[in-house]
Amino acid sequence: MARIIGGIGTTHVPSIGKAIAEKKHADPYWKPFFSGFGYVHGWLARERPDTMVIFYNDHGLNFFLDKLPTFAVGAAPEYRNEDEGWGIPVSRAVAGDPDFSWHLINGLVADEFDVTMCQEMLVDHAVTIPMALMWPDESWPVKVVPIEINTVQHPLPSLNRCLALGRSVGRAIESYQRDLKVLVVGTGGLSHQLDGERAGFINREFDELCMDRLIDQPEALTRYAIPEFVELAGAQGVEFLNWMAMRGALTGSVRQLHRNYHIPISNTAAATVVMENGPGAGLRAA
Ligand SMILES: [Fe+2]
Repeated sequence: MARIIGGIGTTHVPSIGKAIAEKKHADPYWKPFFSGFGYVHGWLARERPDTMVIFYNDHGLNFFLDKLPTFAVGAAPEYRNEDEGWGIPVSRAVAGDPDFSWHLINGLVADEFDVTMCQEMLVDHAVTIPMALMWPDESWPVKVVPIEINTVQHPLPSLNRCLALGRSVGRAIESYQRDLKVLVVGTGGLSHQLDGERAGFINREFDELCMDRLIDQPEALTRYAIPEFVELAGAQGVEFLNWMAMRGALTGSVRQLHRNYHIPISNTAAATVVMENGPGAGLRAA
């Protein structure tokens, strides 16, 4: 049976891709961010996941405002990246696992999440940058199921809905017959706003509250309606919805193994969290 080893939450801002390409890891601006991945590399080398389910938001590469699904699941044998215009190198393709994807899609639809099913899908920096951060040697030893969440075009799904989406995915993972070790990832955030009167807005106190509650009491975060969350975390801080889904997919007793938080990277509060999915009933609800 498939087993969920844990979850990783990470920022995905495009400038990270440029910094990687220019090998700026030791640069004083970048070092506090990149050094937070040392633990991640060691943990992944020990745990050796086979497959990664990654919750992310597309920024206009595969979906644009004219057609933007609330939730979309990739079911392709591979996912290509293309030039997004950020000046970062185009990534190589990411390997998919269609059989596992269809299993997750069946589970989601049975749980009444009417997702968009994508047998062709480009993935943008919100998938490729986290992969480059997690496996800097570019080995990318996992197959990937990308799950897109709309954090761009309002109305957005609620925090509660994304937590429930994750829980459905977690149940589906654990009912898969193949012996896979599955890593769950949520990308984006934390607090940031890129435009308008509040451009540059960051809220450290709220980010820390979100990271704390995500570990031990994710339901407590569902009290925030999207407009209130935007006020507290910034217009693009709602990418935290991807972290909520990741947390929802962790079915066991969850423990924080590692956290790094650094302000700012490209006007964004950059955070990296690793969570263990231990044995036990956890906080899962129906
Ligand atoms: Fe983003």
